[in-house]
Amino acid sequence: MSGLRLGLVGCGAIAQWHARALQSTKRTTVTACVDVSTERADHLAELTGGTACSSITEALAIGVDALAILVPHHLHQDLVTEALRAGVHVALEKPMAPSPQACEQILAVAAQHPDRVFMLTENAQYWPEVLIAQGLIRDGAIGDIITARSWHNFGITPEFYPSQDSWRFQAAQAGGGVALDTGSHWMRPLRMILGEIDEVVGVTSRIQEKMEGESLVRALCKFQSGVVASFDVMLATGAVALQPHFQFTGTKGEIVISALGEVRLFDGSDWQGTVMGTGNYMDSYIGVWNDFEAAVLDNKPLEADAQYSLGEVRAALAITRSAQTHQWEKVWS
Ligand SMILES: NC(=O)c1ccc[n+]([C@@H]2O[C@H](COP(=O)([O-])OP(=O)(O)OC[C@H]3O[C@@H](n4cnc5c(N)ncnc54)[C@H](O)[C@@H]3O)[C@@H](O)[C@H]2O)c1
Repeated sequence: MSGLRLGLVGCGAIAQWHARALQSTKRTTVTACVDVSTERADHLAELTGGTACSSITEALAIGVDALAILVPHHLHQDLVTEALRAGVHVALEKPMAPSPQACEQILAVAAQHPDRVFMLTENAQYWPEVLIAQGLIRDGAIGDIITARSWHNFGITPEFYPSQDSWRFQAAQAGGGVALDTGSHWMRPLRMILGEIDEVVGVTSRIQEKMEGESLVRALCKFQSGVVASFDVMLATGAVALQPHFQFTGTKGEIVISALGEVRLFDGSDWQGTVMGTGNYMDSYIGVWNDFEAAVLDNKPLEADAQYSLGEVRAALAITRSAQTHQWEKVWS
């Protein structure tokens, strides 16, 4: 196969971001845009040059080697199962599913198709600033990690919260709140750099009344290494200030990833720190598709297998459990 024909299933908000990122890939062509909303399918078809349609069956008839599943969480399992059983390669948006059981069932279906790539598109795996920080830490720039913090505050935008009854506000469709949803993009870098999380303790709150899941999370994550990191996520009710996305503190210094994409090393040589590189969160989506393309066309192993994403799902669920039990909760039990 010299090129990859991709169908986008779900032509909503994130599909627009993926469509833009896909313009940077060399060998992937969007051939089908699937949505139950004709208007959205047509709009994305216009943007990508693909053909609008309303089902996976139609996309297969148009001609696809792979499908990207970009739909609300409660639909992930059914649509990804349909796509995998159709024998195409599949990229599925995070979270794999709202429960570990559903995730395991999806992985079991994927395992029945070992010659097909199944990717969980956690774009934070390819976040340029995170990769710069990871490299510096691996090279010993700040010594051994003592602690870390992640901070993600964001507001209601019409793009992702288009109406009062948006699926993200409904527990039955979203499967949870901000910990399970957008929190995964901040949890993944912590795991990439600090390893696996053993247990968590957290407090959650519903500062957005219309959202059934939590909209504020303040949690501590204890990693298997013993290091403890803080993990904060807030879907704010008002304007938010720029805060560093991440801060890693080591025995010799600190690394801060700013909200403006700057990676600054504090190693004692300059009290203002030294800018070691800059990046752009949006480029992480290009990383997703370059990795998927190489996995399908060149048999290159994915940077992270789909199973790895269970760590974010389980940590999010453990945090919400802890908020109820008021105790540390194990992530993997
Ligand atoms: N990686 C990221 O940064 C990121 C950001 C936002 C959303 N997401 C994820 O992307 C997924 C979609 O989120 P969104 O914000 O784009 O939602 P959205 O509501 O904007 O879009 C979902 C689309 O799916 C369509 N749809 C529903 N049922 C369908 C079906 N049976 N077949 C085809 N299309 C169907 C809807 O009509 C809608 O257009 C979720 O898993 C979400 O967590 C990821």
